[in-house]
Amino acid sequence: MSAEAQVKADLGRLVPLLEGRFLLPFAQGEAPALAAAMTYSLQAGGKRIRPVLCMLAAEAVGAGAEAALTCATALEYIHTYSLIHDDLPAMDDDDLRRGKPTCHVAFGEGPAILAGDGLLTEAFTLLASDADMPPSRRVDALQVLGEAAGWRGMVGGQALDLEGEARTRAGEPVGMAELQLIHRLKTGALLRASVELGAIAGNASREERALLREAGEALGLAFQIQDDILDATSTEQAMGKRVGKDEGRGKITYPLLLGLTGARKALQEATERAQCQLRSLPNPHSLTALATYLAGRSA
Ligand code: IPE
Ligand code: IPE
Ligand code: MG
Ligand code: MG
Ligand code: MG
Repeated sequence: MSAEAQVKADLGRLVPLLEGRFLLPFAQGEAPALAAAMTYSLQAGGKRIRPVLCMLAAEAVGAGAEAALTCATALEYIHTYSLIHDDLPAMDDDDLRRGKPTCHVAFGEGPAILAGDGLLTEAFTLLASDADMPPSRRVDALQVLGEAAGWRGMVGGQALDLEGEARTRAGEPVGMAELQLIHRLKTGALLRASVELGAIAGNASREERALLREAGEALGLAFQIQDDILDATSTEQAMGKRVGKDEGRGKITYPLLLGLTGARKALQEATERAQCQLRSLPNPHSLTALATYLAGRSA
């Protein structure tokens, strides 16, 4: 099977598994308008790459995808919250996400901030209540997710991204080390956590988990390099979000520092690094195919 056919088949079986369950917590609650804003952003679509990576990582070490379903759901909550906040006027100021008006455009800024907060916290509540995992592994997963999502992970990366933007606008020089750090934190951390949570949910050995961590780190970098490339080369229709904005805002990106050719080379290298780590796992085929597919994605 080609990588593309494999990915199509995997998305076809795993995404419905995720989406069949992940709106349930919001069907009830004391603040229905808030729940509506949260479900709006969750339901708007999205590629569901993090939850799928998580479930495929569990499968890569011989477990079933269902074992990682709660972790996968928590990851998509965190990711969706990060997008809602990323789009706010005080951050990237975007009005289109997943092909629809952004959460703050549809519901207002205050409700959008709170929708993000609600998704972020629900992720941890959900994971803490995952009865499929013994308590020790649950704590492990909570720690990995907290570190990856928090101030030394995604939130830290977003902070550096904003600081970097202000510095390039002021005409200050930026270097490769700073770019790599921003990408490793703002996007790499959550992608790495996605495969690591899959490893924990799938009861991976210490060696398997280390391999998946390394692969996730490289995949995360590749993913953000491709996001940077697509901002410079793709269309709004394909992406479901505004494109061509990074340069004008002064974002520190791979195309800015290396040009498109250099960025594509770095993307290829990071993808190969990930695939090299995956090779020694018991069942790496689907994850390897997804890595190939992501490097060539056009949306
Ligand atoms: C967008 O992530 C933000 C980045 C970290 C680059 P995705 O490209 O995974 O967005 P969705 O979930 O498909 O909307
Ligand atoms: C976002 O990076 C990373 C997040 C943690 C949300 P970008 O700002 O480049 O993501 P897009 O291009 O808006 O999706
Ligand atoms: Mg951003
Ligand atoms: Mg953005
Ligand atoms: Mg981007």
